[in-house]
Amino acid sequence: MPPRVPSLSEERIAYLEGLVHRARSAAAVFTQYTQEDVDRIVKPMVVAGLEQAQYLARLAVEETKLGVMEDKAIKNMVATEFVYNYVKDKRTVGAIHEFPERGLVEVAEPIGVLFSLTPITNPTSTVLFKCIMAIKTRNAVIFSPHPSTWHCCGEAVRIMSETAVKHGAPEGVFTCLESHTMDDNAYLMHHKDVGLIDATGGPGAVKAAYSSGKPALGVGPGNTPVYLEKTADLNMAVVDIITSKTFDNGTICASEQTVVIDDEIYDVVLKKFADLGAHICNEQETELLARTVIDPETGCMQPMAVGQKATDIARQVGIPVKANTKLLITPIQGVGPEHPLSFEKLFPVLSVYRAKSVEEALRVCVDVNHAGGLGHTAVVFSRNDEVIGKFSEVINAGRIIVNSPGSVGAFGGIYNDMVPTFSFGCGTGGGNSTTDNVNVYHYLNIKRVARRTQAHMWFRVPNQIYFNLNAVENLRRLVSRSTIIITSQALEQFGHVDIVRRHLPKETLVHVSVIPDAEPEVKVVMQGVEALNLYHVDQIIALGGGSVIDAAKIMKLKYESPEADLEELAAPFMDIRKRVVEYPTEKINHARLVAIPTTSGTGSEVTPFAVLSDKTCGRKVTLADYSLTPDVAIVDPQFVMSMPKGLTADTGIDCLSHALEAGVSIYASPYTDSNAMQAIRLVFKYLPIAYQHPHDEEARSMMHNAACIAAIAFSNAAVGVNHALAHAFGARFGVAHGRANALMLPHVIAYNASVPTKFTPSPNQRGYVAHKKYATMADLLGLGGQTVEEKVKNLVAATEQLLDQLAIPRSIADLGISKDDFEQAMPDLAKIAFDDPSWRSNPRMPLVSELVDLFWSAYHGRSLPKGAVASKQQTARGIYA
Ligand SMILES: [Fe+2]
Repeated sequence: MPPRVPSLSEERIAYLEGLVHRARSAAAVFTQYTQEDVDRIVKPMVVAGLEQAQYLARLAVEETKLGVMEDKAIKNMVATEFVYNYVKDKRTVGAIHEFPERGLVEVAEPIGVLFSLTPITNPTSTVLFKCIMAIKTRNAVIFSPHPSTWHCCGEAVRIMSETAVKHGAPEGVFTCLESHTMDDNAYLMHHKDVGLIDATGGPGAVKAAYSSGKPALGVGPGNTPVYLEKTADLNMAVVDIITSKTFDNGTICASEQTVVIDDEIYDVVLKKFADLGAHICNEQETELLARTVIDPETGCMQPMAVGQKATDIARQVGIPVKANTKLLITPIQGVGPEHPLSFEKLFPVLSVYRAKSVEEALRVCVDVNHAGGLGHTAVVFSRNDEVIGKFSEVINAGRIIVNSPGSVGAFGGIYNDMVPTFSFGCGTGGGNSTTDNVNVYHYLNIKRVARRTQAHMWFRVPNQIYFNLNAVENLRRLVSRSTIIITSQALEQFGHVDIVRRHLPKETLVHVSVIPDAEPEVKVVMQGVEALNLYHVDQIIALGGGSVIDAAKIMKLKYESPEADLEELAAPFMDIRKRVVEYPTEKINHARLVAIPTTSGTGSEVTPFAVLSDKTCGRKVTLADYSLTPDVAIVDPQFVMSMPKGLTADTGIDCLSHALEAGVSIYASPYTDSNAMQAIRLVFKYLPIAYQHPHDEEARSMMHNAACIAAIAFSNAAVGVNHALAHAFGARFGVAHGRANALMLPHVIAYNASVPTKFTPSPNQRGYVAHKKYATMADLLGLGGQTVEEKVKNLVAATEQLLDQLAIPRSIADLGISKDDFEQAMPDLAKIAFDDPSWRSNPRMPLVSELVDLFWSAYHGRSLPKGAVASKQQTARGIYA
């Protein structure tokens, strides 16, 4: 549907539709062109533009009565030669940028039909520039020139069009409205076949373009402030400013408008201006200009002055000047409506301001910048990098030009390495969509073809792991001047500390610090850090269960980096490699951490995790970073021979949960799988024996190894939803971690093995593999079954059977927790479990409702009848439901 513009006649609509039709047809043909095709067309167009530069400049001056023919010819040459130099080797068709190491390809696609408005100030140069960009990017353009530039722009479009078509461009690639009204523009701006409006013109045209609802490239007005600082090269600065401000009689919107000059150099600078042909206006002359060249009502320029010579302006307003006067300089005392000459003046009238300090100078430059020039251009002349830096910070401009002319500098490619352009984006400050020098890339839709990449994975473990009976003897290899043993009261009483002490080299000074509580607490940890400092330790031996080892990890962190903020370091993260908060790397102390576990479950001796209670605010802080991993782990079963049966069962199932969860984690890798699978095999074989026969040395030793091996797996692959549920449930009802895991385990296996409602994004995996991984585990355990379903069912049954063997309660109800209490706790349980980071590596992303279902399954218990094992004939689709 064409847009509705009621005042347009049918005839006029037919004319406009004809233009669009031609452009659309050309654009359609153009899509088939190759890079070589367009490059072959662009070059002769550039040559034609260069050949006709003077002709078109002359036409523009004659028609607009603005500017200087010689300067306009230079603009036409910049618009062709400089732009060509920038675009000639650029790929703008098909794959334009390739990043093989990132699996990314950028593919250029033309926009189709562009509707382009061009200004009165740079009419032909803007047309030449846009035509070259359009051919290079395979777009067709309908031009709507400023009404005072029909002829010169029409000629420029004709020359470009004829040359382009002659060298192979599709017919109708450029067309130009022969005359227009606002309604014509509105019709075309809203036309469905126009893909982009490129509006270079006055604020009205730009606003109309942005208001059309179409994608638009519109550029804003300028009001370029210049800071001429006392360290600048004054001769260079004055010549640059005069060159720039008088170029094409000041019509370029990036040209200098107000020069703020340091007090110390003000008089010298004005004399240099005068010596080079500027007329310094006195107070009356300045006042006269302010009243005549700027509209006092609107603050806008009077047309009689725009693009005129300084001498002509002076004559018109009645200021006597020398015949060779290039520039009128008007001293001003402020910025804003009371000082009209502080606004944009696209003619050779330049305001100057005397600043008493850098601060004042910057403030005035900011004021000028805000008085109609936000986002456009600003200039600073200085040899002081600090001043240049400050200026760049405080000024809102897409282009900050340093020690060079504003207008000729902003074009790019002449005084600096900016992209050559005739369209200066002013960013949001100027109400534009970009701050760029508009260029070919703005005429393209750039598609990103992103191939799947495989993130680098890791496998990090302590430097040394000693295992098997009497592995503690290896302590004698560890040279230390001052060692502290962190342990618990019970272990000291058992004589474990004495065993450790016996194996330390004789010259080592040994201290012992006993943690009073079962769980490490901030206060206790900080007392430990005091002891580390007191004894200037270089080795910390953590002898105990997971809590003691965790406490020692945090003591080491605070001893080495006292500034470490535990609260901050506990900030949540999704990917450890991209985390927001980083652990300290600067250390004032260094200590080796040796972990000797006295339970077979948490595996804290090899993990990068530490949990700390903060009783003052009643919560736990979990720290995770590979810098927390102990340096040495000693996995000696002599320290677990006396573990009570209940603890053996609970910690053993915690270990199994670690291995099962790491095995199906989205971060699982062949490296972690080898550990997870072996740990599962060891647990199923040796945990029942260690439970039934606590003094069986082999079983104890293998379970101790299993806990460490499973921890190596989950240190690198993380855990899953089982731990999220167990953390929430265990904390709420005071149930030991391993036991809480056990209650969830069979249900979570069945849950993860079924078709997920929501998949967890897992770039490391090809497809959903959790059920197949469980089947592999079942195979490893020799559980039988033909299909994946049967094998998973057998794994669930074998897990149930193991839990039975360990006499672990098989339901939450069996713990004596009433249904009412559980129901009441459920909203909190579900919320806390969902907030737990553990499940983020789970293969199946849990919905809160699914967490609730899992909790209730655990409440009611057993997912399969006791002793149920799938035979070859049985199918076990039931558990997938
Ligand atoms: Fe655990």
